[in-house]
Amino acid sequence: MATTKDYRLGEFTFPRGWFMIADATELDTHKPLAVRFFGKDFALYRGRASGRVVLLDAYCPHMKTHLAAPNNTSYVVIDGGGSNVEGDGIRCPYHAWRFGPDGKCDDIPYHQGAIPAAACVKSWTVVESLGAIWVWHDPEGGEPEWEHPSLPQWDDPSWVRWKFDHLGELRQHPQEVIDNICDNGHLGPIHGSTVQRYENELRGHIATQRQCGPHRTLVGADGVSPILHTVTSYHGPGVLLSDLTGLYDSVLMITHTPVDDGLIKVWHALMVKSPGNNAVATVPDTVAARQFQESSRLAFMQDFEVWTNKAPCLNGMFLPSDGPFMKARQWYKQFYNPRARRQEFLDECEGLYVPRGAVAYSDPQRGPGQGE
Ligand code: FES
Ligand SMILES: [Fe+2]
Repeated sequence: MATTKDYRLGEFTFPRGWFMIADATELDTHKPLAVRFFGKDFALYRGRASGRVVLLDAYCPHMKTHLAAPNNTSYVVIDGGGSNVEGDGIRCPYHAWRFGPDGKCDDIPYHQGAIPAAACVKSWTVVESLGAIWVWHDPEGGEPEWEHPSLPQWDDPSWVRWKFDHLGELRQHPQEVIDNICDNGHLGPIHGSTVQRYENELRGHIATQRQCGPHRTLVGADGVSPILHTVTSYHGPGVLLSDLTGLYDSVLMITHTPVDDGLIKVWHALMVKSPGNNAVATVPDTVAARQFQESSRLAFMQDFEVWTNKAPCLNGMFLPSDGPFMKARQWYKQFYNPRARRQEFLDECEGLYVPRGAVAYSDPQRGPGQGE
């Protein structure tokens, strides 16, 4: 396992950006969830009063009890019906100090008088969107630089919403996953694509890949592969969204979040426009959408299987016919360094790239998005 330092990415161990930290359905009960990301432990819960999601640093300032680790024996938990979430706050299972959603202690049952101002834990900016919980992680503690992930299709009844595939932890640095966005050469051998046109574009916090061609895995019901077009972008360092057209119109999302340096947690999901062309997706649409999501998951597992066993690529032997790996690695560095230096990295990477021997996706002779 290699670390951020080994990849020479920059000053920060963990990047700046929006990151998925949970599937929203994990908070369906009012039990708090102990989660670990960015080398830190957190308490995540849904407030009982307002339903808002709260993320706090995990350890109680009193005597460092984990506020959200599974606990079935404290009377704080037993008397709370199996949960120590109270209103929009959370009560420590050990001596029952209660913390509000802002992280400030607002009740110590056995203490009369003022509560010390230092009796608090950090509360993080979290958002619920697309069936997931997102945190803005920022080593500089700044405001979000771009909007949290959202999609208009989520509220469109003709689309079948996704259910997340929890792919678990992958013992690789996220750099190895990010490399995939410009990996032209793996599409044939790993995914069974016959790439007809291909390009990458790097702009600001977005890294895009556009490609089209027949595909051996995501085939039609008749076994005949339609031309698959994918327009795929990283929106910041942790969220990949891909518009797929071919068999069905769909949106793929792959998210990965650092747990520790060199260890990430990964989710996969696919939203599908009504396969039966209905204004409101039907039960058969949902069945077809779930099947298509499973095909998409299996396609992603083709990458995942390689990543599970590969050594870190610290000095790749890249060819001009490969995608622009080094440009994308430069793009990725903007998130590991102070935002004041962002332009430095963008100056070295922004642009449109077509690997040697490939045909540009947006070839002006053919017009963008046309099949062969
Ligand atoms: S350790 Fe949390 S209240 Fe004492
Ligand atoms: Fe891939």
